Amino acid sequence: MTSPIPMEKLGRALRQNTLVRIIEQFGEEHPDSHLKDLVIDESGPGRRIVVGGRPLVNFGSDSFLGLDQDGRVQEAIRRGLSRWGTHNGASRAFASVRANIEAEERLAEWLGVESVLILPSVMLANLGAIPGLVGRQDAIAMDEQAHTSMQEAAKIARANGAKVATFAHGDPAALERTLDAMRPYRSALVCIDGVYSMSGRIPPMAELDAVARAADAVLYVDDAHGTGVLGAQGRGTVLDALGSYDNAFVVGSLSKAFSCAGGFIGGPRAFHRLLKIRCAPYVFGGPVVPPYLEAIGTVIDILRSEEYPRLRARLDASIRRVIGGLGDLGLVVMGSATPIVSVLVGDEADTLNAGKFLFDRGYYVQSVLFPAVPYHAGVLRIQCNANHAETEVEGLLEAFAALTRTMKLPRSSPAGRPRHPAGPGPERG
Ligand SMILES: Cc1ncc(COP(=O)(O)O)c(C=O)c1O
Repeated sequence: MTSPIPMEKLGRALRQNTLVRIIEQFGEEHPDSHLKDLVIDESGPGRRIVVGGRPLVNFGSDSFLGLDQDGRVQEAIRRGLSRWGTHNGASRAFASVRANIEAEERLAEWLGVESVLILPSVMLANLGAIPGLVGRQDAIAMDEQAHTSMQEAAKIARANGAKVATFAHGDPAALERTLDAMRPYRSALVCIDGVYSMSGRIPPMAELDAVARAADAVLYVDDAHGTGVLGAQGRGTVLDALGSYDNAFVVGSLSKAFSCAGGFIGGPRAFHRLLKIRCAPYVFGGPVVPPYLEAIGTVIDILRSEEYPRLRARLDASIRRVIGGLGDLGLVVMGSATPIVSVLVGDEADTLNAGKFLFDRGYYVQSVLFPAVPYHAGVLRIQCNANHAETEVEGLLEAFAALTRTMKLPRSSPAGRPRHPAGPGPERG
């Protein structure tokens, strides 16, 4: 039998890692309030879930339009299953089912881009496309708070010889300096989120684009949280901000508001072929399974119909009510543009305990800690969905009111500015 010692050594070494130590410590010190790795035993109707026998209202789902519970979307998935079976059994470098091509064409037409390439997730789209688009003579300028998937992708690009540097969050002047400092380069990519998922912030995209163009650089926008829920017909943030995609790649999610599965990269037709050659997860990994591809057209039909403004209006009413109600309680509330509303708590233990307090009252929100937010800037992250009932939203606000009576939380100052701002730092969740 092989000696277990190398495996033990590997485990010991991993436990020295700072992030592992911090996360393990949270779990050990707060076993009762550490609501991570939750197992959901039942889901639906609406946003109802059952966890460990406890019925809860789920305010932690990114199915923002509630389409995960929509009969038409579910029926399309069943249709795809009977048409294609459970999977297509090959990398797309060899063969794609027709449903994949149809879904890409529908997405491109809806977005207004020349072509779209679907990958199994946004994480894989970024990990494949970013190193695929740049080479040894090229450069990447990365917003310091860009999503982890882009930061990890840039590490691969750097290992392949590209220059990589970060710039201050959403700051066009900082982007200009960063690109200048990396010269000379052949081409450059500027990586930003379309909407930052922890704060709901939307970057000044037109200004960043102007700097990028002047410096021979192309924007690469991860719009995972904008897809299906922001912009006209849910097309996300890019077209509204830039008016065209002629200097931007757009990456979107098919999992969040779309409630299907996967991610996509939209851009000029020439890049469709180039990415198929250069994007490693496309060539060496499997595709989204066909039943979900079949449902993408169904979701696009909903987004393009008169139903979308109605769904958005329901969602907007919930977002406004949640932000208004939490503001009336004097809490420090972040967000407005997206269905994500975060309440600043600060201390890590307090953030976990506050999440557990709401959980015990039947409401699940996510306690988000470092490294997804800066250290000591923990937040309760609420995700509003179009299929939350008004009574559920009111119930959540009552639970928050009870929380403020039992726990001292940061308060917004009379001028409406937080007394305990989250401050700069990573925002990569
Ligand atoms: C901006 C951003 N990019 C990428 C991802 C990862 O998406 P996926 O789950 O499709 O890998 C997320 C997930 O929340 C995200 O917020």
